[in-house]
Amino acid sequence: MSYLETTKNVYKKAAETPDVGLCCTTTPIWQLPGLDIPEIMQDMNYGCGSTVHPRDLVDNPKILYVGVGGGMELLQFAYFSRQESGVIGVDVVPEMIEASRNNFKIAEELNPWFKSNFVDLRMGDALNLPIEDESIDVAAQNCLFNIFKKEELKQALKEMYRVLKPHGRLVLSDPTCEQAMPQHLRENEELRALCISGSLPLWDYINMITEVGFGTVEVRAKRPYRILSPNKYNVEELIFIESVEVCAIKDPMPADGPCVFTGKSAIYYGNEDYFDDKKGHTLLPNQPLAVCDKTAGALANLERNDIFISESTYFYDGGGCC
Ligand SMILES: C[S@@+](CC[C@H](N)C(=O)[O-])C[C@H]1O[C@@H](n2cnc3c(N)ncnc32)[C@H](O)[C@@H]1O
Repeated sequence: MSYLETTKNVYKKAAETPDVGLCCTTTPIWQLPGLDIPEIMQDMNYGCGSTVHPRDLVDNPKILYVGVGGGMELLQFAYFSRQESGVIGVDVVPEMIEASRNNFKIAEELNPWFKSNFVDLRMGDALNLPIEDESIDVAAQNCLFNIFKKEELKQALKEMYRVLKPHGRLVLSDPTCEQAMPQHLRENEELRALCISGSLPLWDYINMITEVGFGTVEVRAKRPYRILSPNKYNVEELIFIESVEVCAIKDPMPADGPCVFTGKSAIYYGNEDYFDDKKGHTLLPNQPLAVCDKTAGALANLERNDIFISESTYFYDGGGCC
């Protein structure tokens, strides 16, 4: 059986019997006026962060969510979109589609503004999405892509890129790990399916995203996620896993490579009225300008003693250069 089949079996079980500890979200569950999330959706919260960002959801976007789980994030997206089929949910496990459908009925009873038909549930595979080209404004996945091995991850990212409109956004939440994941864990299909051993280092993950064509990437959050300890996982040292939230924007690829924002800023502290790098970045005295890592590197290479470049905060959600 391939690891993809093992994954389906793991989530068939998780659909039939909610497994509260399966994943551990590192974000508090959205509390919004008039939003009441059914308990069963919270129990079936199998994500590791949040992909719902109100700022992505202006201008009435068409939303796609791949890997529905108990449906909690789809309900949150529907809170903002509030229209028939405003959110399309795709999942490869029929039992998960069925479970989320039942959960939406409960949500309908608790939330007068919500109707089940706000969500269009479709059986389908992240590797071959049942969605038309360039038809989606905001696509999201939470804690599914880390399960994929590199070949499938590339295919899943290509599919997201295909269905997004130009300048559309792909919001992702996944575990990442900077240490080498021991082979016996990486090859363990069950652990991989449980989002424990498939994670890549952050920059490998980002490079896979930009290689399929996304011209802009924002690292919006990075938080501690899990520890794999020698007493439980037969590892020689503690393995530290983080959870990241990333937004990839289908902007054209700049000639000098993608703009990846990890939360760096440039601050000019010289004596002139401003500093202009003649590449589109004007720094005003003592006013931080959020810059992508490429621009941060280019400014640092000037070796001036009147420009300060801050470290990555891994907390960036808009504004600045490019
Ligand atoms: C870790 S759970 C995350 C669920 C949800 N995103 C959340 O945050 O609660 C992974 C989800 O992806 C679904 N899934 C697994 N393999 C898939 C595939 N190849 N294509 C689409 N969905 C898949 C599972 O059924 C499950 O709903």
